[in-house]
Amino acid sequence: MKIAIMGAMPEEVEPIVAKLDNLNVVEYAENKYYEGSYHGHEVVVAYSKIGKVFATLTATILIEKFGCDTLLFSGVAGAISPDLKVGDLIIAKSLCQHDLDITAFGHPYGYVPEGEVYVASDEKLREVAKQVASQKGLTLKEGIIATGDQFVANEERKHWIGETFKADALEMEGAAVAVVCSALNVPFFVLRAISDAADMDAGFDFDKFLESSAKISADFILSMVEEIQ
Ligand code: ADE
Repeated sequence: MKIAIMGAMPEEVEPIVAKLDNLNVVEYAENKYYEGSYHGHEVVVAYSKIGKVFATLTATILIEKFGCDTLLFSGVAGAISPDLKVGDLIIAKSLCQHDLDITAFGHPYGYVPEGEVYVASDEKLREVAKQVASQKGLTLKEGIIATGDQFVANEERKHWIGETFKADALEMEGAAVAVVCSALNVPFFVLRAISDAADMDAGFDFDKFLESSAKISADFILSMVEEIQ
């Protein structure tokens, strides 16, 4: 098994890269890929940069160039569900693209022909996450994560996404990674720690909590790698 661990921003992967043994940095396609090992697993870590296009590029490279056969995403998200507070963890049962819109042609939001609105993540990896959470006494919410090329800092948009997609949290990369992994038959998992509530304070909260929430998510992902058989 060769495990890809992806984030979108440096803060999301730095705590992971810091724990790798046998580190080797490969520069490719205007990005850095951190090869190494962790608890006997071969891993390749990278941050994509923000948004669906960069996430698609990085996930594809991790699989096609580096030969990763499992992908774990770690990072932060804005909360939609009122259950979720800053620092809480959510795992995606499935993911959708909230900004994909060809409703003018009678299609539902988030759908394009030959695609699907929701892409489900790997059930076995979600089970590993639940096992880790229970060992650590942590609450893990499982739900729908909505992805789009927008930083949402607006109650109205947040509620629209929540209602339209029954989404619990939102971010800017997860569904892109899901589409890549699903097409290439690679089991994947998306974990996010909440950094803000996607409301008018979101920009301020994001800056304040990015590092701490990213670290919560990264530490959890490392514990999962220790548990993966
Ligand atoms: N990631 C973390 N918070 C976010 C927000 N409010 N909008 C989009 N992506 C996010």
